[in-house]
Amino acid sequence: MNFIEFESAQKLRGGFYTQPVIASFLARWVKVSKPKSILEPSCGDGAFLDAIEEARIPNLKQITACELNVEEAEKAASRTSLPVKMHRTDFLRWYLFFAQNEEGFDSVVGNPPFIRYQYLPAEQ
Ligand SMILES: C[S@@+](CC[C@H](N)C(=O)[O-])C[C@H]1O[C@@H](n2cnc3c(N)ncnc32)[C@H](O)[C@@H]1O
Repeated sequence: MNFIEFESAQKLRGGFYTQPVIASFLARWVKVSKPKSILEPSCGDGAFLDAIEEARIPNLKQITACELNVEEAEKAASRTSLPVKMHRTDFLRWYLFFAQNEEGFDSVVGNPPFIRYQYLPAEQ
C-alpha cells in the first residue's frame, strides 16, 4: 500500500497511454458497427482519436472526447482533423450534469484511468 502524497502526478491521474497498434485494432473493431458518433471518455493525448481517423469510418459525423488534463486535451484535439467536441473536464462530472444535452453515442472507445478509489477526490 502507498500513500497519496508519495504517488506521482502521472499515477494519480492514470496517465498511461495506449500503444498505437492496440488503439488501431480497437478502432477497426468499432468500425464494424458503422458508428455515426463515438465517445472517448478519457482521451489522454489522443491515441484513440488518431486510430479512429486512421480507420476511416464511413459516415462518422462526430467524436466527443473528455480529458481532465487540459494540456493533454489540447494535444489530443490538435492531433486529428476529424470533428471533435473536446470537453477539457472531469468525465464523471460532465456525464452526470451536462451529457443530457447529447443525443447519445453509437460507440464508446478508450482505455480508462485505473486509479485507486481511495485516491479519488470526494466529489468523484
Ligand atoms: C489510462 S490513460 C488513457 C488515455 C487514452 N484513453 C489512451 O488510451 O491512450 C487515462 C486518461 O484519463 C484521464 N483522466 C483521469 N481521470 C479523468 C476524469 N475523471 N475525466 C476525464 N479524464 C480523466 C487521465 O488524465 C489520462 O489521460
